[in-house]
Amino acid sequence: MAGILGNLSGKTAVITGGASGIGLAMAERFGAEGMNVVIADVEDTALTAANDSLLAKGVESRAMRCDVSDLGSIEALADFAYEEFGNVHVLCNNAGVVHRDLVWEASIESWNWVLGVDLWGPIYGVKTFVPRMIASGEPGHVVNTASTAGILTFPGICSYDVAKQGVVALSEVLLADARNAGVPILASVLCPGVVRTKIGTSERNRPGNVQGAAFGTKGLTTATEAIDPEEVAERVLDAIREGHFWIMTHPRYVGLAQDRAKAMETGAPPPVPSPI
Ligand SMILES: NC(=O)c1ccc[n+]([C@@H]2O[C@H](COP(=O)([O-])OP(=O)(O)OC[C@H]3O[C@@H](n4cnc5c(N)ncnc54)[C@H](O)[C@@H]3O)[C@@H](O)[C@H]2O)c1
Repeated sequence: MAGILGNLSGKTAVITGGASGIGLAMAERFGAEGMNVVIADVEDTALTAANDSLLAKGVESRAMRCDVSDLGSIEALADFAYEEFGNVHVLCNNAGVVHRDLVWEASIESWNWVLGVDLWGPIYGVKTFVPRMIASGEPGHVVNTASTAGILTFPGICSYDVAKQGVVALSEVLLADARNAGVPILASVLCPGVVRTKIGTSERNRPGNVQGAAFGTKGLTTATEAIDPEEVAERVLDAIREGHFWIMTHPRYVGLAQDRAKAMETGAPPPVPSPI
């Protein structure tokens, strides 16, 4: 398959969760291709620092505070991006948080927070941006950040599993509906394994009514298979160029997903990956 955007230089990408980690790495990589970028995040200080660093590298970057769990905030982000650059060609629904809970103990506040950011965020992004992308008459590409938890169910992070498996479904149905409707929109779903970012300190952004232990950074920083966000960003760029749907950074999880599919033939329980 081939991508549908052609030359990326001068085209515009909007990236949520763009102040840190994978989102910032995507902004840097897209900027190096000559793309305009709009980064959006809830962390004002990190957002300003990220925007300044992008500008210092010569990237046409803009930043806007946006809470992806709020539809009005995403609509304001779209207004801003279209005002600044006239069009949006790449939308990366990437902002994300994770929380540790046993499924029978997770509070409704905890479910609401994680599903609000990780699932409603991408839904609001598609709902708000894709009609404008289609109306522009130019091709568009949506990259949704799921996780290996989008294709496998990890113990101890119930809301994250449910949200990310929803993000995979959202991405698949976006691709299918666009194809059936004959509109020039492609979708990709990013399913990284462990990446060295600040996701382990997600609680820095959690609402005051969400209780519980911090997710923790140990597994993310010490895992031998951990990769840097720049490597992920390179994979995302390749997927946009090649028109790939699945963006898998750690092949061993693909093997586990195959085991999960095989279990459907026999009725065996799904494989349980090691907790992160
Ligand atoms: N790091 C990993 O190992 C890993 C693995 C699989 C998937 N992911 C996914 O990658 C994505 C990016 O995370 P990361 O690893 O770069 O972590 P990160 O914490 O470095 O970056 C996430 C960003 O999202 C922002 N954010 C949080 N809540 C928000 C909200 N309501 N609205 C807007 N922005 C918000 C944070 O401020 C932060 O800048 C997430 O969707 C995460 O689930 C990460």
